[in-house]
Amino acid sequence: MRKKVTKAIFPVAGLGTRFLPATKSVPKEIMTLVDRPLVQYAIDEARAAGIKEFIFVTSRGKSALEDYFDHSPILEQELRKKGKDDLLEILKDTYMDSGAIAYIRQHQALGLGHAVWCARRLIANEPFAVILPDDVIAAEKPCLQQMVEAYEETGGNMVAAMEVAPEKASSYGVLDVKEDMGKIVSVKGMVEKPAAGEAPSNLAVIGRYILSPSVMKNLNKMKKGAGGEIQLTDAIAQDIEKEQPVYGYRFKGQRFDCGSKSGFLQATVAFALAREDLRDDMMAFVNQVALNASAAE
Ligand code: G1P
Repeated sequence: MRKKVTKAIFPVAGLGTRFLPATKSVPKEIMTLVDRPLVQYAIDEARAAGIKEFIFVTSRGKSALEDYFDHSPILEQELRKKGKDDLLEILKDTYMDSGAIAYIRQHQALGLGHAVWCARRLIANEPFAVILPDDVIAAEKPCLQQMVEAYEETGGNMVAAMEVAPEKASSYGVLDVKEDMGKIVSVKGMVEKPAAGEAPSNLAVIGRYILSPSVMKNLNKMKKGAGGEIQLTDAIAQDIEKEQPVYGYRFKGQRFDCGSKSGFLQATVAFALAREDLRDDMMAFVNQVALNASAAE
């Protein structure tokens, strides 16, 4: 029987400089899409996929993240006194079972691979998921859950994959495809941030991974890759050399790059339009903005 994936790593150590000055005092992952911080979407997705242990790789200045998942006795007491049961209910999603959440510091910004490696002792010898909270995916069935179901059939390593325009490929890890089976592709190589015109395909890695413990062993080598950083992509690619399969999974859903301003704004509009309590107001506003813009042309 294949071991179930019950642990997930959330690399959240980045400085979020693209969102300065907002991120001067607020971790990027606490920035809100409608009324929930980015990290809540990541946690919800992990829970839906059966994750029971949540490992955050943080850095200096991220203590707001730890507080977010804590109980808040004064706030709760106040809400209870005022009979605000609906708000108390909303807070429930932010609570974690005692001992289910761990925070590890990445002391130096040495890359995504290094951040994941920082969690090695908690992962031990088990398969694990990695979720990059910057990549928000709107989907009927949450993306990681789709992947876990596929992984139960395939095993090996699995990365979320999405077609991107050729001129965008150099912003991603890109798959070198061995065999395209439709929803799943088998992979013969992976290149992190390929130079323009050198991407092996237009299938990019999106921030959801299910990885075997051998990827952690590969990270022990601390090999520097693109941008002089220790890259997760390279450690996964090394597994192929060890004849451990790597699969790309074409997920169903819409991905928003919330690490960029325009992606974040698009996600805000899309998530607001998807909300019953906001849809009508937002729709009227968006239509009006579009009309004004075309009238001004
Ligand atoms: C990271 C990964 C890259 C992946 C991307 C997806 O890059 O290194 O392989 O394609 O996330 O969002 P980053 O965006 O952190 O530069």
